[in-house]
Amino acid sequence: MIFMKDATTLEDLRKHEIPERVTIVKGGGDLPKIKVKTDWSVAEIYLLGAHVTGFQKNGEPPILFMSQASQFALGKAIRGGVPIIFPWFGAREGFPSHGFARVTEWEWEGSSAAPDGSVTLRFHLPTAAHAANSPSENVTFVVTVSDQLTMELTVANLSPTENLNFENCLHTYFAISDIAEVEITGLSGTTYIDKVDNFTVKQESAAAIRISSETDRVYLDTSGPVEIHDSRLHRKIRVEKISSTSTVVWNPWVTKAKEMSDFDDDEYKQMVCVEAGNVGQNKVNLAPGKSASLKVILSTA
Ligand code: BG6
Repeated sequence: MIFMKDATTLEDLRKHEIPERVTIVKGGGDLPKIKVKTDWSVAEIYLLGAHVTGFQKNGEPPILFMSQASQFALGKAIRGGVPIIFPWFGAREGFPSHGFARVTEWEWEGSSAAPDGSVTLRFHLPTAAHAANSPSENVTFVVTVSDQLTMELTVANLSPTENLNFENCLHTYFAISDIAEVEITGLSGTTYIDKVDNFTVKQESAAAIRISSETDRVYLDTSGPVEIHDSRLHRKIRVEKISSTSTVVWNPWVTKAKEMSDFDDDEYKQMVCVEAGNVGQNKVNLAPGKSASLKVILSTA
């Protein structure tokens, strides 16, 4: 394990490369980007937001979608990949949408290559970033790359007396052949909040969800795996959720896509977000001294 302290330049970060496995490069906006290579796959992670922007298995199309129009700048959210949503989900007046974690540069704590061939990177949300929210929380993010992508966001409540409430979400953008070719399973029979229909509470009656208009739904009390079936790619992406009781399904469709300055007009056809977390009435309430880990494992078949 390699530990990094006060690394501020690319040269400092370079010391933490692992030959043939972990490399530091300048990414978009000249921001530091970590490239990971394993025997099965490649991945990319920015320190900005500890944001995974790429995961691709050898011989397969990318699993994560990245917008061609994404901005790469401190204080701005990257559009695509896996934004970390914390400590709130959605808009909050006067504060960044979806919390500050995705617009903050995280500390890179270390990396390791295991004998089984997997590579693990560890990140820490700087205390200064969340001191105003709660000085007594410790937030880490661990990414393990192998033939699957495992991401684990852990929040510890360091307070000896106070509970800690927060929302979290790994807001994953999946790359698909075409939105018309895709079905999502695993949510049938559950209750969701339909954000594009005035937050009406509905029951999911479809065995397989198809998207043909703007879709923005928060599925509640859903902890089982969700699968994205892409008939043109003959690929099934599996989203395994551990300690996640909410699932958000989002596609901006035509009008919303045009309104987004960091998203190309036609890109809604190439992506769907299936987001695993704990939001709204499923938010986390941590007792003093306790910690909670949100874990998501992405695999394909
Ligand atoms: C989804 C929300 O999780 O994220 C949507 O449910 C929102 O309402 C979308 O539009 C994108 O949010 P942002 O802040 O990245 O533009």
